[in-house]
Amino acid sequence: MEKYEIVATTLMGLENTLASEITALGGERVKVLKRAVSYAGDDALLYRSNLALRTALRVMVPLTEFRAGNEEQLYYGIKDFPWEDVFSPEQTFAIDAVTGGAVFRHSQYAALKSKDAIADRFRQKYGRRPGVDTKDPDILLNIRIFDDKVTVSIDSSGVSLDRRGYRKVSNEAPINEVLAAGILLMSGWKPSQPLADPMAGSGTFGIEAALIGSHTPPGINRAFAFQRWTEYDANLFERVRFELSKKISDAELKIYCRDILSKNIDIISQNAENAGMDEHLSLKKEDFFESFPKEPGGVVVINPPYGERLRMTDLELFYKRLGDTLKQRYEGYDAWVISSDLDALKAVGLKASFKADLMNGGLPARLVKYEMYRGSREEGE
Ligand SMILES: C[S@@+](CC[C@H](N)C(=O)[O-])C[C@H]1O[C@@H](n2cnc3c(N)ncnc32)[C@H](O)[C@@H]1O
Repeated sequence: MEKYEIVATTLMGLENTLASEITALGGERVKVLKRAVSYAGDDALLYRSNLALRTALRVMVPLTEFRAGNEEQLYYGIKDFPWEDVFSPEQTFAIDAVTGGAVFRHSQYAALKSKDAIADRFRQKYGRRPGVDTKDPDILLNIRIFDDKVTVSIDSSGVSLDRRGYRKVSNEAPINEVLAAGILLMSGWKPSQPLADPMAGSGTFGIEAALIGSHTPPGINRAFAFQRWTEYDANLFERVRFELSKKISDAELKIYCRDILSKNIDIISQNAENAGMDEHLSLKKEDFFESFPKEPGGVVVINPPYGERLRMTDLELFYKRLGDTLKQRYEGYDAWVISSDLDALKAVGLKASFKADLMNGGLPARLVKYEMYRGSREEGE
């Protein structure tokens, strides 16, 4: 099968994790970019990437690249591309544009110019043009402009891959699914080990862990944009899907989701059922400060409340108690804490063995790892 360049996008800080996933799936010439990874692969790998990558937001195929110093050059650069080889006037399309640098300041305007260029090319060739559908297009194009460098890609995913679809209900501050999966993959958690999320909210960490532990591809039950492409190979897709689904295991997992609110336990139960992962999770209403881990050793992931709901002094006290509880009760665990409250994190009072700056729900967040062996308490973060 013919190989071509593929670019998978991700969240800040997850690039290396995504690159490892892509290499494991069979990607070649894997290169880490800013919030993305590029690689070479064929149609089977494109399909597999969409079905199986846990830390990708979108999987795109770059179509053309050119330089444009003004609107006219953008218009002709787009119009010169043989769009009729990609889709037909009977299909609908939409353009998502991202601009940066000094030349094009308004992404909406760049998208409009590009849309006109494509429509004009079709009209001149066929006397009719494809319609625009921003809600549910057949063909989703992505235009990135930085200074005068224009890259045009076709988006093979459609709805972004972090929208797994299992979280129909959530608590107020759920962690992004891709971020939760990325932290779990970074943590080195092995499915044979206990995994605890004592402040589970809507259960994202637990459900992602169950998907990882049972080798369930996160996209196994959803549709993708590439299924509407002219060259879509339905037989190949079914083969790729079947190969991946053969690896799903129902081996027992030790995943413990806890939350202080019983309404959140109900939410987790519903979400886990939506994901088909309910059998893998142990759920219980419990106060973190009043409880002990169910098993010795393992990984504990915590996304504590931050900012808005607790006042600053309460928040610092909460994070200090969190550090004390980890120290006193979680000996032998690796603890991964992610929070958007960087000051409160300092109050944990444990020595971090790893830190990373990430983004969660549009807010800067810090991920910190504490290795809970005897005598790990020290001043500082
Ligand atoms: C930021 S949310 C976690 C969001 C979660 N990661 C998700 O994806 O939905 C923090 C959670 O901590 C819970 N919580 C607060 N205090 C707690 C305590 N003492 N023990 C257990 N859970 C607590 C809250 O009910 C809330 O659901």
